Amino acid sequence: MKKLLKSLGPVSAIIGAQWGDEGKGKATDILSEHYDVIARACGGANAGHTIVIDGKKHIFHLLPSGCMHEGKTVVIGAGLVLHLPTLLEEIQTLKTHGIEVLNRLFISPEAHILFDFHKEIDGVMERMREEKRGQGIGTTKRGIGPAYMDKAARIGIRMEQLGCDLTGELTQRRDQVKNMYGIDIDVKLEIDNLRRAASLLQNRIVDTIDLLHELLEEGKTLLVEGAQATLLDIDHGTYPFVTSSSTTAAGALQGLGIAPKMLTSCIGVAKAYCTRVGSGPFLTEMQGELAERIRKRGGEYGATTGRPRRCGWLHLPDLIRTARINGYTHWNITKLDVLDSEEQICVGTGKRSSAEAEYAVLPGWQESTVGLTKFSALPKNAQKYIEFIEEQTGIPAALIGTGQAREQMIIRS
Ligand code: GDP
Ligand code: IMO
Ligand code: MG
Repeated sequence: MKKLLKSLGPVSAIIGAQWGDEGKGKATDILSEHYDVIARACGGANAGHTIVIDGKKHIFHLLPSGCMHEGKTVVIGAGLVLHLPTLLEEIQTLKTHGIEVLNRLFISPEAHILFDFHKEIDGVMERMREEKRGQGIGTTKRGIGPAYMDKAARIGIRMEQLGCDLTGELTQRRDQVKNMYGIDIDVKLEIDNLRRAASLLQNRIVDTIDLLHELLEEGKTLLVEGAQATLLDIDHGTYPFVTSSSTTAAGALQGLGIAPKMLTSCIGVAKAYCTRVGSGPFLTEMQGELAERIRKRGGEYGATTGRPRRCGWLHLPDLIRTARINGYTHWNITKLDVLDSEEQICVGTGKRSSAEAEYAVLPGWQESTVGLTKFSALPKNAQKYIEFIEEQTGIPAALIGTGQAREQMIIRS
């Protein structure tokens, strides 16, 4: 770990390389122990980041997954859209596990508030897309698109306004929203939610740009937990089947107000295969029994919505492209163990734009890798598979996941 930390340097970002759910939460949890400050930079409660400690599962939606480590400074940056009841619930759940996060939590005044009515609009817009295009995006219905729409339209309400009386503003919005989407905003409920949040969070709102830069100047280290993933990026993803935020390393830095030159490393997180929830192209998607087997072995059901995830093979051209976009310095290849029983491992190699996938076929290892923590202990064919990914992408696999639990990770220098 020491050597790895040295190569990561003081400011590192963990960024998904596929369509999300690669295991960013687990990597964040493991590395957080060694960083002073842990930050979420963008997205909202569409994220579901799972960590497993002592057999117990914890799912984070808004707080960074590093929160379980007591004493770490936790930052929520400007790029997020915050559903406040969800945030309060997460803080409360941690408290019931004996973990106090409030006194070390700092929230950007520039982060936007995501209201319950944004979630309702999300649902209506999905129905409209289904009717008009015959297919929705398959959003998480967490109100993400509508909240970022308000932000881009410059009518959003930000955390700096928490504590102000927003009755007038929300009443005005009620009429607009009713006209456009046929939805009744429950102004009283929204105001109650704001009041509840203000009483707990108002004194946690600070200029997080000043805070982060001062901490970095003092020599503190920062770990940035990306949310969603590069193929879901609003610009570079499989548009329109994407989320509404910038999910890349650049997006994360923007979301926190940190200059690109300050980032010392970027860990690309990719499953040893690939999954996607929601609609959109998936060239290497598996079908039938194979898909079922991988879904079952990998527990591929959404951490936020419980939806079954679509499963497929790794696609090298996508990995290479996401590596370019993010400047990955290290890979965390996750869920290697899920492929343990496969006779053959396919890897998509063709052009990104081709209509049909082309594959390189590698021999499987058909031995358990579950819980292994040393690369040399992996079956030879598993080692070869990892080395194949490294050679093709030119990026070392510094972390390799061999199970859900915190300690089930191979860490290489
Ligand atoms: P995230 O959104 O990127 O943080 O990922 P999710 O938490 O949504 O989904 C990843 C799932 O895979 C979670 O259930 C993790 O517990 C699990 N997971 C992570 N790494 C591994 C691994 O190496 N092996 C196995 N079997 N499961 C893993
Ligand atoms: P984490 O951080 C997987 C997907 C949704 C949908 C599309 C748009 O856990 O990896 P949205 O609700 O954002 O408008 O949905 O993006 N999506 C995710 N898929 N993991 C996520 O987050 C996701 N966040 C959004 O399924 O296809
Ligand atoms: Mg997830």
